[in-house]
Amino acid sequence: MIRIKKILYLLTKIQRIIGLFIFILTFLFIFHNDSKVQWHGGASSQSAPVRIKRPATGLLSLYEEALSHREKSSFHPMFHNHYVSLKLNFTSMIKDYLNYLKSDSKKKIDHVKITCLKSSKAMKDFYPICHIYLNFRVNIFNLKEVSFTFLSHNSSCSLSLTNTSDIISLDIHEMFLAEDKFRFTYQWRGFDREKLFRWSQWPLKTSCLKSYLNRNQRQSSTLPSIFFQCSSVNILTHSTSRELFIREQEAVSYWLDLQYGASINRKVFDTNNLPTKSRRLAPFEIAKNNQVCPQKFQNWILNYQKWHENISLNISNRSTTFEEQFQRIIELDVRFLIYKKSTTGIADRMIHFITTYLVALLTNRLLIFDTNWPEFIDVIQSSLNYQPHTVIPWFAQLNSIKKNLSLTIQNNLTVKAHRFLTERYKQDYDYEKDFPERILIFKGHTGGVIHTIASNSSIYRKFLTIDLEMNTENIFGCLYNSIFTYRLSQSIKRFPSNSLNKQLGHSSQQILQALLSPRFFPIGIQIRVGDKTMIHANSISHEKINFEKFNNFFTCSQDLIYMNENLFRRTNQIPIIFLLSDDIRIRQTALKRWKLPFECFRLSKNKCPSNNDHLQILANSNPVLHISHTNNSMLAFQLGIFDSFLFSLCEQHIITTKSRFGRFTAFASLKQRNIYSLNIGKQSSCHNQSSPLATVGYLRLGI
Ligand SMILES: *[C@@H]1O[C@H](CO)[C@@H](O)[C@H](O)[C@H]1NC(C)=O
Ligand SMILES: *[C@@H]1O[C@H](CO)[C@@H](O)[C@H](O)[C@H]1NC(C)=O
Ligand SMILES: *[C@@H]1O[C@H](CO)[C@@H](O)[C@H](O)[C@H]1NC(C)=O
Ligand SMILES: *[C@@H]1O[C@H](CO)[C@@H](O)[C@H](O)[C@H]1NC(C)=O
Ligand SMILES: *[C@@H]1O[C@H](CO)[C@@H](O)[C@H](O)[C@H]1NC(C)=O
Ligand SMILES: *[C@@H]1O[C@H](CO)[C@@H](O)[C@H](O)[C@H]1NC(C)=O
Ligand SMILES: *[C@@H]1O[C@H](CO)[C@@H](O)[C@H](O)[C@H]1NC(C)=O
Ligand SMILES: *[C@@H]1O[C@H](CO)[C@@H](O)[C@H](O)[C@H]1NC(C)=O
Ligand SMILES: *[C@@H]1O[C@H](CO)[C@@H](O)[C@H](O)[C@H]1NC(C)=O
Ligand SMILES: *[C@@H]1O[C@H](CO)[C@@H](O)[C@H](O)[C@H]1NC(C)=O
Ligand SMILES: *[C@@H]1O[C@H](CO)[C@@H](O)[C@H](O)[C@H]1NC(C)=O
Repeated sequence: MIRIKKILYLLTKIQRIIGLFIFILTFLFIFHNDSKVQWHGGASSQSAPVRIKRPATGLLSLYEEALSHREKSSFHPMFHNHYVSLKLNFTSMIKDYLNYLKSDSKKKIDHVKITCLKSSKAMKDFYPICHIYLNFRVNIFNLKEVSFTFLSHNSSCSLSLTNTSDIISLDIHEMFLAEDKFRFTYQWRGFDREKLFRWSQWPLKTSCLKSYLNRNQRQSSTLPSIFFQCSSVNILTHSTSRELFIREQEAVSYWLDLQYGASINRKVFDTNNLPTKSRRLAPFEIAKNNQVCPQKFQNWILNYQKWHENISLNISNRSTTFEEQFQRIIELDVRFLIYKKSTTGIADRMIHFITTYLVALLTNRLLIFDTNWPEFIDVIQSSLNYQPHTVIPWFAQLNSIKKNLSLTIQNNLTVKAHRFLTERYKQDYDYEKDFPERILIFKGHTGGVIHTIASNSSIYRKFLTIDLEMNTENIFGCLYNSIFTYRLSQSIKRFPSNSLNKQLGHSSQQILQALLSPRFFPIGIQIRVGDKTMIHANSISHEKINFEKFNNFFTCSQDLIYMNENLFRRTNQIPIIFLLSDDIRIRQTALKRWKLPFECFRLSKNKCPSNNDHLQILANSNPVLHISHTNNSMLAFQLGIFDSFLFSLCEQHIITTKSRFGRFTAFASLKQRNIYSLNIGKQSSCHNQSSPLATVGYLRLGI
């Protein structure tokens, strides 16, 4: 009897140990499976290993829910670059409040007190540093219908407030240390209790996603409380622009892994014992490879970013007077380069941007961007603290401030605004000699990056090519990917995971998954007809287009496919064409003829039925808007950058010579291959049309 008991006891123990072992294995798997990119060999095999165990589809929809939850929440605090700011959706806060309020009065003046508490190295306990009162009037018509008017504010600390219909933004003027931490409470008038604000972290933490995956396999799709608990916080900590940039990239990488994971039929892969191929990398991931963007270049950028961070911190202490700020600027000999966007298209803006960034790097000037461009901030995270109102708050009123300053300061604050003309792209500059002013404002829409590195008479050529080991193939892309990154929130919004695609085109998800798959060799075609097309984009004309005019783009890609047949056979890749065009009728006609069939997205079979022309077209049927010819410039920019992001995943690019949209994207893609630049309506084949980026960089208005 005793022996049996002992055996039973031992068995349970063994069971426990095995259980623990399995638990540890799971744990190891989950935490090892990070979003980090690993490199295999050289620049040619740019792919990251992905091991996603469970179908990723569920997780992808969790992203959407989490984003919409975040956007609905009423409290968004930020502690970036040493300043604290709060964004409140006051409409939403008041709605919540009225749920508690059992007031009979129809009209009343009310207030809410928001308290900001700080904990520092010296004082670990949170103590209040600022009380903010927001006064408002509510009008209650009946139990449901409520309106309010925001009346005024007062506060015990210096801050600035802006309000729109829903949103109140508060900027506290005090500069804090990176190790400081904050909490926030709120208290409605007449309520005894102060409540602590909570908010959810963004971008989504992969560890929270993983804990959700681990514990909630069979739960319904409503955002589970376990996920909330994991991602919700009530303590605010510091981030620099560079940290936000890196975090955003890591989040997007993991999201791309999931997108790719969702496209793989895991069972078939396992039963056929096929090796799990890695997904195609996005350009920002390629840029981390020091065989693509050399280590010397990466160090150069990192040093600039650190310097930018340090200097902008040092000169932007809002507790000091403008005079003291200027004194500090002159003492440290800080010089500025301010980017001003043009009123023309996305490509013009981006190309001038990257050129200005290169000049700032070469001359060690503090780069500041024109922020009158809300779409940009919405779509792109930058690695620099660029905002003029935080770094150079005096700039907007410089002329009036200047008059009251000492002559030494006045004479030292020289300003020059320069507009670059068309010939910039083939002209040499000595930026120190040509522009000696302390504050420079660069306007323009042309590019000078390729000429700066390629010109025999460029004084920067030796430094760029020999000291930094850069070349015409990688310079634009390495610069681009070191300053801009596409935001996770944008990726999620452009890729609704449950969108049914009833239209002719492919869904965003199908396009992305095909472009990420190593089974395909994507060739990008960009056919740009002209601004007129985009101006009338949404009043779709029923006029027939003369498709023959664009045939050269398709014959060129056919040539390309024939030329590389052996390569595709050897690598077991299927060439496909991702078509971008401002004229939706071109996409529709091409899809009718050569649409990539649905069967090809199922990666289980190696067969993908091919049509006689050997063209397999991948395209969406979204409209294309021109940012300067539309009233919805936000959507225009979002769709434009999204198209550019997809196009940059293509291995090979065939673009329209007269447009720079496809061209800057091909440079930013870091594929470092010759491209094909064609004219609409011209006869051409691909046999003798390929051009190195060094040449393409000199075409129309330059790069
Ligand atoms: C603010 O909250 C209200 C109510 O929740 C919502 O309808 C509105 O869209 C929000 N505003 C913004 C700008 O998010
Ligand atoms: C809120 O903003 C409007 C303009 O958008 C402004 O007229 C009003 O004075 C502001 N209210 C407060 C209390 O700042
Ligand atoms: C701010 O306003 C509230 C009431 O609206 C008042 O109780 C408080 O004393 C005021 N504080 C300051 C610093 O004026
Ligand atoms: C930051 O700038 C100060 C001068 O303002 C300099 O003394 C210090 O070395 C810089 N620190 C870094 C990390 O660059
Ligand atoms: C700013 O620069 C000055 C002069 O080099 C230095 O004394 C000071 O410590 C710096 N302050 C910060 C916050 O970096
Ligand atoms: C900002 O300036 C104030 C007033 O001169 C000073 O007390 C404070 O220490 C400065 N802050 C930083 C971070 O340099
Ligand atoms: C300049 O100084 C004059 C006289 O001291 C003063 O009235 C004016 O407000 C000042 N202007 C600025 C922009 O500080
Ligand atoms: C600029 O400031 C420096 C240091 O204060 C001074 O020596 C120099 O003369 C000033 N330059 C001009 C043009 O006033
Ligand atoms: C630079 O010089 C080389 C020969 O020294 C020449 O082949 C090349 O075309 C020149 N490049 C430019 C951009 O002038
Ligand atoms: C944009 O708005 C303006 C005025 O609000 C209007 O005249 C114009 O027709 C609108 N354009 C488009 C493309 O909707
Ligand atoms: C390109 O090839 C075509 C025929 O294949 C020929 O007619 C044309 O002249 C060639 N162009 C160049 C620039 O070599």
